Amino acid sequence: MHQKIKLGIIGFGGFGNFIYQSLSGSSLFEVTAIADIYVNENTIPGQISFVRNWKHLDIETELDAVLISTPPSSHSEIALHFLKRGKHIMVEKPIAISLDEAKAIKDAAIKYNCVVMVDFMQRFNPILETLQNLHSKNLFGNFERYFVENYAQDETLPAEHWFWDQSISGGILVEHAVHFIDIVHWFSNSPKVKKIDGYTDSRNAFQMDRMSLNVQYNNGLLATHVHSFSRPNVFERTNMRFVFSTAQFDLKGWIPEEGNFVALSNEELIYELSALPGFVITKQKRVQPKMIRGENYNYNKIIEGSFKAELSKSQLYSLALQKIFEDFYTKIIDRAHTNRVTINDALKAVEIAEIATQTASATLH
Ligand SMILES: NC(=O)c1ccc[n+]([C@@H]2O[C@H](COP(=O)([O-])OP(=O)(O)OC[C@H]3O[C@@H](n4cnc5c(N)ncnc54)[C@H](O)[C@@H]3O)[C@@H](O)[C@H]2O)c1
Repeated sequence: MHQKIKLGIIGFGGFGNFIYQSLSGSSLFEVTAIADIYVNENTIPGQISFVRNWKHLDIETELDAVLISTPPSSHSEIALHFLKRGKHIMVEKPIAISLDEAKAIKDAAIKYNCVVMVDFMQRFNPILETLQNLHSKNLFGNFERYFVENYAQDETLPAEHWFWDQSISGGILVEHAVHFIDIVHWFSNSPKVKKIDGYTDSRNAFQMDRMSLNVQYNNGLLATHVHSFSRPNVFERTNMRFVFSTAQFDLKGWIPEEGNFVALSNEELIYELSALPGFVITKQKRVQPKMIRGENYNYNKIIEGSFKAELSKSQLYSLALQKIFEDFYTKIIDRAHTNRVTINDALKAVEIAEIATQTASATLH
């Protein structure tokens, strides 16, 4: 029986607090200390040591690992400080606001032999997990096209929020789109990039509130990411589409909760698809197989249907966080373990987002 990992949280705002709640009752982690420069001290749970300056965090208490959940521009300085002191790190996305800073974290993780994971918790969403697993068994042919259209609310993002300051957040693509860029890389095994193009629209001189990017990969996959933080909560919607040679999946929710599909299928594939939560076939028809883009596939019917997770959005979110922390824990106690999210995944996502942001900004008047 291993001892619990003693975890310090740096940045106890909206998300640091949510992770703390998600880890409450964990048999793997014990939060022993929190550092936050501005937070109202009344929100800090009583039994936990609290400091304002994160440089004092592990002087106050013994720590094995830290979670960095401060705004993005501070991630690299904090990460380097704690890596030098031999602490393992879970860092909120983005790992840093530039590829150079991210590389410095990677180098320090190697030098000081510490585990670093970035919180790409989408890789632990049960719908995405199942789809990725089915695709990795090569059940749908090639992954040809991905798009995400993500309308997020701006009601909790007043003009003075750090989110709008590109020198702090890195901009929407670096701060937010990295989650979705990483989903594509996870599904497609990080293919080589052929071309990246970014676009932006600003509501005023300092709020770049709509951004998009296209990424074309060498294996033929074309990904389009559209992110908009520009309207009230009532309009919040996210749709993702995964197009494979023989199947298409449309997912709803930025934390995917449900969706529908159409697939060229056979009994074996139907059995595999039934691993999707709440899987239901609503239509099916026998068909003669035809070649698709010059390839033969083994199918005899076309099916349509839907799937839906049993859990609510916040339960799915918490569960994904618990699972990514479990993966982090496993690597800390067993260095032979391969994490589902590696530091190279974190670097790759930032690299694409950073390039796209530069090309987007280049088109600004
Ligand atoms: N993985 C996800 O799904 C997800 C979701 C939301 C936010 N995030 C990420 O989490 C991080 C924090 O976001 P948030 O929404 O919680 O922001 P927030 O503004 O609510 O919280 C940030 C906290 O950090 C504190 N802080 C700022 N600078 C600090 C410093 N130098 N030292 C100590 N404390 C400092 C602030 O006082 C604040 O309490 C960001 O990187 C964000 O991208 C990730």
